[in-house]
Amino acid sequence: MSTAFDRRLAGADAAARELRTVRDLLRWGVSRFESAGLAYGHGTDNGWDEAVALLLWALHLPPEPLDPWLDARLPRAERRAVLELFERRVASREPAAYLTGEAWLRGMRFACDARALVPRSPIAEALDEALPQWLELHPRAPSWPASILDLCTGGASLAILAAHRFPEAQVVGADLSADALALAAVNRERHGLQQRLELLRGDLFAAVRGRRFDLVLCNPPYVNDASMQALPPEYRAEPRAALAGGPDGMDLVRRILAQAPSHLCGDGLLLLEIGHEAAHFEAAFPALEFHYLPVAAGERMLVLVEAGQLAAAAIRSRAPRRGSIPRRGTARPRARRP
Ligand SMILES: C[S@@+](CC[C@H](N)C(=O)[O-])C[C@H]1O[C@@H](n2cnc3c(N)ncnc32)[C@H](O)[C@@H]1O
Repeated sequence: MSTAFDRRLAGADAAARELRTVRDLLRWGVSRFESAGLAYGHGTDNGWDEAVALLLWALHLPPEPLDPWLDARLPRAERRAVLELFERRVASREPAAYLTGEAWLRGMRFACDARALVPRSPIAEALDEALPQWLELHPRAPSWPASILDLCTGGASLAILAAHRFPEAQVVGADLSADALALAAVNRERHGLQQRLELLRGDLFAAVRGRRFDLVLCNPPYVNDASMQALPPEYRAEPRAALAGGPDGMDLVRRILAQAPSHLCGDGLLLLEIGHEAAHFEAAFPALEFHYLPVAAGERMLVLVEAGQLAAAAIRSRAPRRGSIPRRGTARPRARRP
């Protein structure tokens, strides 16, 4: 008995006889993706870019440019390879990066599979843009940062990008997941960072007990329960522990902010991703002074907190009991623009 995937594959096979050029295949792919209602957000945000990424990978072409190939006619075997990959994307609803085994961030290639989140954190952009701009206004010693921690490192994309951005720094990547750390080790080796990137396993800062850092980067699990319920299949293909952040998304963030003062140097900084949870973040930490670092994806997705601001806020690891939460408007977070 043929499965739905086999039947679709047969359809793709028929299409492979008619479609000729790269442009033909891309148009076909976008139509398939749109009619199947795919969700994006793992490196691309629309059907065209998703089809381009898959096609270029299947044809062993670099991720850009595309234009020189658009009118190239392809032999049948190549057309079939591309169309089969498109069908796998539709049938599996896995992110494209899990199908190809690689993800690109800031022009760097990372090994990628279901052991860790697909790399896409806007912290990567901030390391090149918003953070240096902020540091111009709030200068540190020339040797800063000598030490960097990428907490919740997953496949270590941010740790590796930070190591390249700050070539003198020693970097630690820490995660609770042994699977994610195994993938991180592959990436560390591919990027030749065995001497400068240490990978440690543990529950948040327990992995680096007694150590302090100039810069702590962290893209923690912060998706709130309601949003978790509504996740499309592409996001459910990722490790749940990489996403789920409890009722208001702040379960891990509370613990991170409470523990961070013991792990930051005097002029240390915590750069934390909160995605679309700014309202929950502001409600959870009304007494905390912090800065938002703007990125292309949004103005309030990344929080930058100075060691002194964290210490002053004296945050507790657990949410206060009901009734002790300040009513809306009684205490306002004091976020500053860079
Ligand atoms: C959102 S992913 C971030 C992965 C990577 N840094 C990135 O930006 O692509 C969150 C990571 O936190 C890890 N994690 C979850 N709970 C943790 C805990 N209690 N301690 C350390 N890491 C944890 C997960 O295993 C996952 O790799």
